[in-house]
Amino acid sequence: MSNTRVLITGANTGIGFATAKRLVKSGADVILACRNLSKAAEAQAELIKLGGAGTVDVIELDLNSLASVKAAAELVKARYGSLDVLINNAGIFGEALHQTEEGYEQQFGVNYVAPFLLTQLLLPALQAAPAGRIIHLSSIMHWLGNIKPELFRQSSGSYRAVAAYGQSKLANLLFSHALARQLEGTTVTSNALHPGGVNSDIYRDLPKIQYAIMRPFLIPTSRPAELIEKMALSDEWAQKNGQYVSAHMPNWQSANAKNTQLADQLYQQSLEMVKAYL
Ligand SMILES: NC(=O)c1ccc[n+]([C@@H]2O[C@H](COP(=O)([O-])OP(=O)(O)OC[C@H]3O[C@@H](n4cnc5c(N)ncnc54)[C@H](OP(=O)(O)O)[C@@H]3O)[C@@H](O)[C@H]2O)c1
Repeated sequence: MSNTRVLITGANTGIGFATAKRLVKSGADVILACRNLSKAAEAQAELIKLGGAGTVDVIELDLNSLASVKAAAELVKARYGSLDVLINNAGIFGEALHQTEEGYEQQFGVNYVAPFLLTQLLLPALQAAPAGRIIHLSSIMHWLGNIKPELFRQSSGSYRAVAAYGQSKLANLLFSHALARQLEGTTVTSNALHPGGVNSDIYRDLPKIQYAIMRPFLIPTSRPAELIEKMALSDEWAQKNGQYVSAHMPNWQSANAKNTQLADQLYQQSLEMVKAYL
């Protein structure tokens, strides 16, 4: 595998880092898009030691800021021109209510609005490649979410953290499906996955006792990384579009996730949300 250029967000740790390792070993040119440049440099150094045939680059991307997303996308387009694979991996799970720079409830903003914008801005670069693939990290937790526009900018009141995370992951899945329908018959595909219950830093905010109960059921980051690598590079996935797969648990989708009207509605609302940056 050579000259396949893959950008992966949040690649300095967890599922993103495990995936980057596999991509580097496969010989892909890998771009680590991370918010913390010193953590990214450590990851980059470790990845370079793997001795892959491709390059390992770092770009700064803070999904908490749509201005940062815009700057990162501009840099990618100017520096590389085309992109073969975009992996929207970075994400947060937070117990407390916070806002992004543009005032979105933080889980919705970081996990969904910013990756939506990044994808829109990088679509021309993906279309410039011989074949482009977009991969969205959703979650089985999408079952716990509903699309509630009145909560997109929640800044006060009682905060249901799990429902907010669920909403963001449902939005990832609806976006992947809406995009896949739009891209049907073109050179670019859009697919989503649930990585499984994975032992990573994402559970850092959970109460210690809750984490201790969950821990034995979590799978290593290498499991979803194997699936994501296949989705990114394999011939088997070259033609697949609009799929939702799972590295661990069943890939059942909620009724909301299968609702094409809801997906199209959210897509239009999202374009409106990011229009100042398009
Ligand atoms: N772990 C699971 O069981 C599980 C289950 C279902 C879905 N997922 C999904 O899988 C994806 C990866 O999660 P993970 O388990 O690997 O989590 P993780 O170990 O916490 O890694 C998350 C990555 O996202 C980055 N990130 C967080 N906020 C960011 C921001 N504002 N801008 C840019 N990057 C940011 C983190 O950077 P820092 O290192 O700087 O914090 C880190 O690199 C997420 O989308 C998550 O929702 C995970």
